[in-house]
Amino acid sequence: MSSCLCHESPTFKKVMTEEAFDVVVVGSCMTDLVSQSPRLPKEGETIHGHNFFIGFGGKGANQCIQAARLGAKTAMVAKVGKDSFGDSYIQNFKDNGVYTGFVGQTSDAATGVASIIVNDAGENAIVIVAGANMLLSDTELQNALPAISSAKVLVCQLEISPQMSLRALRMAQENKVKTIFNPAPAIPDLDPDFYRVSDVFCCNESEAELLTALSVNTVEEARCAGRELLRRGCSTVIITLGAQGCVVLKAADSSCKHVPTTPVDAVDTTGAGDSFIGALAYDMAHHPTMQLEEVARRAGQVAGASVQVMGTQSSYPHKRHLAAELF
Ligand SMILES: Nc1ncnc2c1ncn2[C@@H]1O[C@H](COP(=O)(O)OP(=O)(O)O)[C@@H](O)[C@H]1O
Ligand SMILES: *[C@@H]1O[C@H](CO)[C@@H](O)[C@H](O)[C@H]1NC(C)=O
Repeated sequence: MSSCLCHESPTFKKVMTEEAFDVVVVGSCMTDLVSQSPRLPKEGETIHGHNFFIGFGGKGANQCIQAARLGAKTAMVAKVGKDSFGDSYIQNFKDNGVYTGFVGQTSDAATGVASIIVNDAGENAIVIVAGANMLLSDTELQNALPAISSAKVLVCQLEISPQMSLRALRMAQENKVKTIFNPAPAIPDLDPDFYRVSDVFCCNESEAELLTALSVNTVEEARCAGRELLRRGCSTVIITLGAQGCVVLKAADSSCKHVPTTPVDAVDTTGAGDSFIGALAYDMAHHPTMQLEEVARRAGQVAGASVQVMGTQSSYPHKRHLAAELF
């Protein structure tokens, strides 16, 4: 219900009369419940683990937090449960300077969770219950319309109802707000309208493979998959390639460039793609006329910093920890 009251709240008025948001993310929040054990349990088995921690995740929230840590003025549009995980998540956004007036709480579902078991070899088994994320509805989107339509960049993924993501992207496009769409987790029967509403369509190798049915293991193969995605109607495509950086394709000048990144010693690549997208959003908002190849190069440097630290959001760098040339 808080989402219906936010128009009247003084905070909302204050926020909306001040400068518009740089980056608005419409997407997911997930609480990661991580147990580390020597091996993964078999069916029906109970085993002892040696460590447990709770982390903040969800692709939408991850991307929003990374953009905020780089200095973007951000707002999150999301739904969490009316439960302790939901309360903690909202506090996490506040701690990172993200505006939470469009984060609703529902008693009809629990906050999204990912129960993760990691064995000593680093292999994992994961159950995701999207919960409240799937209840983000048109009402919340309409409440956020003033923020979306005046933002510099809107970012969406596929961890909420895909139709909600599509509606948010259309809302942005109709208001000439730049859109970044990250088709993750990839679905094989993606609505073709997603391509037409994406100014930047950004995915990783496995997502590109699933969407194009082409194999994407090399830079050359990524170029081919990128061309296929462009052909479907996106303005630009970025396919991230882990330590190899990314490829950047632009419909306007039919260019297709490999943007390598600085090799680093990765200790945990979880959430690297989300760090990349959060940085992309920051750069597109702050440097609207910058060439996309340079934007992608900078995003690669930020994501490269994140893989050198354990954890997901906890590994995302702040502006003060990065080279000044990235800003
Ligand atoms: N080992 C690495 N060394 C340097 N940069 C990396 C490394 N792994 C990931 N990155 C950076 O993170 C970005 C996203 O990584 P990638 O693995 O493609 O995404 P995802 O997390 O979706 O699998 C890459 O484009 C790159 O800039
Ligand atoms: C791409 O991202 C998905 C999450 O959407 C992840 O499961 C997958 O492992 C990633 N693929 C690569 C090659 O990193």
